[in-house]
Amino acid sequence: MMDSNVRPASMERITTKELADAFIAEQVKEIRAQVGDKKVLLALSGGVDSSVVAALLIKAIGKQLVCVHVNHGLLRKGEPEQVVKVFRDEMDANLIYVDAVDRFLDKLAGIADPETKRKIIGKEFIEVFNDEACKLEGIDFLAQGTIYPDILESDGVKAHHNVGGLPEGMKFELVEPVKLLYKDEVRVVGEALGLPHGMVYRQPFPGPGLGVRCLGEITRDRLEALREADAILREEFDKNGLAGKVWQYFIAVPDMKSVGVKDDKRYEGWPAIIRAVNTTDAMTATIEEIPYALLHHITDRITHEVDGINRVLLDLTPKPIGTIEWE
Ligand code: XMP
Repeated sequence: MMDSNVRPASMERITTKELADAFIAEQVKEIRAQVGDKKVLLALSGGVDSSVVAALLIKAIGKQLVCVHVNHGLLRKGEPEQVVKVFRDEMDANLIYVDAVDRFLDKLAGIADPETKRKIIGKEFIEVFNDEACKLEGIDFLAQGTIYPDILESDGVKAHHNVGGLPEGMKFELVEPVKLLYKDEVRVVGEALGLPHGMVYRQPFPGPGLGVRCLGEITRDRLEALREADAILREEFDKNGLAGKVWQYFIAVPDMKSVGVKDDKRYEGWPAIIRAVNTTDAMTATIEEIPYALLHHITDRITHEVDGINRVLLDLTPKPIGTIEWE
C-alpha cells in the first residue's frame, strides 16, 4: 500500500496560483469524502499552517468546522483580533475565541526558568483546548496544520503528540490536508484561498510566543511594554522595506532596570533589545545591518511611546554563538 505520509516523486511543486487552485479543488473533494456530514475541530493559532488549513476546511465543509482560538496572552499586538476578523467576520467561520490570558499568566507568575516556562505554556495550552473540546458534542475529526517538514523531521511525532494530548475516550480521526506540502507551497495555497498577505508571509513565531522574549519571570507590565515595543519595531520594518527582507526580527525585554531621566525626573526602566537575523534553516544566523538612521528613529519611538522602557539596545550576536531567541 502507498504510504500516505510520503510525498510522491511525481507531485509537482506548487509555485503558481493555477497549481494552488488545482490543489485546493482536489483537497476540497478529498476532505468532503473523508468527513461527510461530520464535524471537525481545529486549534487555530493564526500561524501560517493552521490558518491555511482553516481556510481550506471552511471552503470544503463550512460550518462543520469548529475552530478554537486560544488567546494565551503571549501573542503579538493585534494577532487575536486579526484571527477573529479574518475567520469569523470575513470567512464566516464557526470560531470559538477563548480568552485564557489570566489562566496562563497566573500559572506563569513567579516562574523565571525558561524551560519551566515553556513546559507550563505547552501543558496549559493542551488543557485549555481539551476543556473546550469537552464542551462540544458530535466531533469526529481533528484537523491539524502538519506540513511535510514536520513529517520528515519528526517522523510524524508532532501529529501523534498532539493527539496524545487529548483526554481519554476522545478518539478523533485526523484531517491533515497540507501534510505533503513544504512551507513555500502552503503560502502559495494560502494566498490562493484569499488569506491576507501579512498572515501568509509572516515571520516565524515560537509557540510559547512572547513568553520567551519577556525574559525571566513574566510580569504583566513588562509583557505589555514588550508587546508595544515589538509592534513599533514591526511597523518600522514594514514601512522601511525590511519586513520582506529580514527573516526574523523582534524585541526581547530582560528582567532588569537601569536609571534614566525623563521630564527632568529620574526614570527607571527596562531596556528593549532589538534582534534582527537572517538565516535559511534557523540552524545558523547572521545579523541584518539595520541603517543607523532607522535605529535612531526606532529608539526614539520606543523610548517615548512605551511605558517602562528607557533604553534600546541592539543584539549583534550571530548564531552560533547566540541562539535566535534569548530563552
Ligand atoms: P533558536 O532560538 O533555537 O530558534 O535559535 C530557532 C528558531 O526556532 C524558533 N523557536 C521556536 N519555535 N517553538 C517554536 O515553534 C519553540 O518553542 C521555539 N523556540 C524557538 C525561533 O523563533 C527561531 O525561528
